[in-house]
Amino acid sequence: MRATRPKVSAASGPVSDPQLAVLRERALAAMDRAYAPYSKFRVGAALLASDGSISEGCNVENAAYPVGICAERGALAAAIARGLRSFEAIAIATEADQPTPPCGMCRQMLEEFSPHLLVVSATRSGGEARWSLDELLPKAFTPRSLERR
Ligand code: THU
Repeated sequence: MRATRPKVSAASGPVSDPQLAVLRERALAAMDRAYAPYSKFRVGAALLASDGSISEGCNVENAAYPVGICAERGALAAAIARGLRSFEAIAIATEADQPTPPCGMCRQMLEEFSPHLLVVSATRSGGEARWSLDELLPKAFTPRSLERR
């Protein structure tokens, strides 16, 4: 039977603490579904779109190592496939001792759609860190960069 999933109302303005609590919970649940037999570093992500919906991702590794994909990009691809293009926040969950920021490739992919995204990283043990994507990826290469030829 499918587990009941908590929902959040549409985001308007800053993301509320209750919304973030749900997002964190969904990222932790996604982390449990990660396929990470090689690194044994499981990651879950939950991406809050501007319409209030949440798309999840987890890292999916592969015997051909570079083929693996990060949780954050998995969540973004899932959201784009649902027709979403604008996002408010992403929660990342790991089992590391300290909250981990997203890798550079994921920062770049998120930047394309939501440069001011709130990034919240949580650990299983309750640790948390917050950043804005602008802070994590200053002077980004953006779609506008392509116009400056
Ligand atoms: N990983 C993520 O899923 N997100 C990140 O932002 C950093 C790294 C994954 C990739 C790989 O499966 C494992 O964590 C170890 O690097």
